[in-house]
Amino acid sequence: MRMYDLIMKKRNGEELAEQEIRYMISEYVAGSIPDYQMSAMLMAVYFKGMSDLETAVMTDAVAHSGDMVDLSAIDGIKVDKHSTGGVGDKTTLVIAPIVASCGVKVAKMSGRGLGHTGGTVDKLEAIPGMRTSLEPEEFFKAVNQTGLAVVGQSGNLAPADKKLYALRDVTATVDSIPLIAASIMSKKLAAGNDCILLDVKTGSGAFMKSLDDSILLAEKMVAIGEHAGKKTVALITDMDIPLGYAIGNSMEVAEAVDTLLGKGPNDLTQVCISLAANMLYLADQGSLDKCTAMAEDAITSGRAIQKLIEMVEMQGGNSEVIKNTGKFKQAAYSYQVLAEESGYISHINTEACGIASVALGAGRETKESEIDYAAGIILQKKYRDFVRKDEVIAVLYAENQNKFETAARMVKDAFEITDVVPKERPLIYARVGKEGTEKY
Ligand code: URA
Repeated sequence: MRMYDLIMKKRNGEELAEQEIRYMISEYVAGSIPDYQMSAMLMAVYFKGMSDLETAVMTDAVAHSGDMVDLSAIDGIKVDKHSTGGVGDKTTLVIAPIVASCGVKVAKMSGRGLGHTGGTVDKLEAIPGMRTSLEPEEFFKAVNQTGLAVVGQSGNLAPADKKLYALRDVTATVDSIPLIAASIMSKKLAAGNDCILLDVKTGSGAFMKSLDDSILLAEKMVAIGEHAGKKTVALITDMDIPLGYAIGNSMEVAEAVDTLLGKGPNDLTQVCISLAANMLYLADQGSLDKCTAMAEDAITSGRAIQKLIEMVEMQGGNSEVIKNTGKFKQAAYSYQVLAEESGYISHINTEACGIASVALGAGRETKESEIDYAAGIILQKKYRDFVRKDEVIAVLYAENQNKFETAARMVKDAFEITDVVPKERPLIYARVGKEGTEKY
């Protein structure tokens, strides 16, 4: 078999055979297919797409390129959750404790920030002492004892995806539905959970900008999960504006803590309750209404925040910053971004806010960059809020004042202001399950 022929086949819009896809993935991981040929293949897939069968085979080949985690040492049903990536998306920090405090195990492997989007592992590492890399035995023991653990992906989980993702990131081939579906689902299948809840983000801060594409992506991922014998549901949630007010690692942990204390922003709270309820539903805890009530009670009773504290302590973190988020190290400097005119906020370009937070130090500009956990943005105004000219719309935080000029310009330009009250927008657009897609 020659990679050249496979590239030509895909370039001409033909379907690749199972053994061709398996050959391409295993030889790429082995290093015998060079990046330039794989780049050409990715671009061909970007333009010509992949059939459902090709996507399923690709997912399976990528999943089996490394370890297939065996979670059988953990008792009970294990439920996983994955977000397609967003800005201010701290949902895992809220949902995992809610679900675990309701008696369902969460043995979760999360990712780091990617491009303009943040990652749960970086947020967790903002907690002093927090270990996000546990040996398998320690991981199983932590989940059996406290009901949850959230760690980074083990080194050998879907190594083909690691290589492919790095290549897609620099060849403008990230936002391809079959490639995203195979990338996410290969890691989810390899991570060994029984059920999977997918949070597919849609809008200006998401990889999928249109609702139709987001639904299509969700349908493909649910089909792959169900085909592999995992109960899988996806919610399509809004990422046209940032979720909550905080963008940046320790600030997002603090906002997640507020949400677990019942005083978080409304959008974040609502999205987290729906995601947690769907995870409980997948884990056979009753009807969606019953699971929603369970998730709400986990917050009001204080059980969920207690679970987060237990998890942090079990993973070696200093829980004092959770008990009092004012103890997080603060940024040396802050900068107020002012509105250029009066009116209603009609849009916030969320990708631009994500890029600005990276420029402030909250994310990595290169693979080697060190994250500044105190850096980021606290929005003061959100969609539909009224703002007066020169009123503060966002506050930027950084270790170094010369980071403010560019970031402030980006954030200022990200806000659109009109003189009519914009329409209300849904937080959750649709639910995709094996029975079909329900639009809200
Ligand atoms: N997240 C992933 O893990 N992979 C993608 O392709 C996109 C988002």
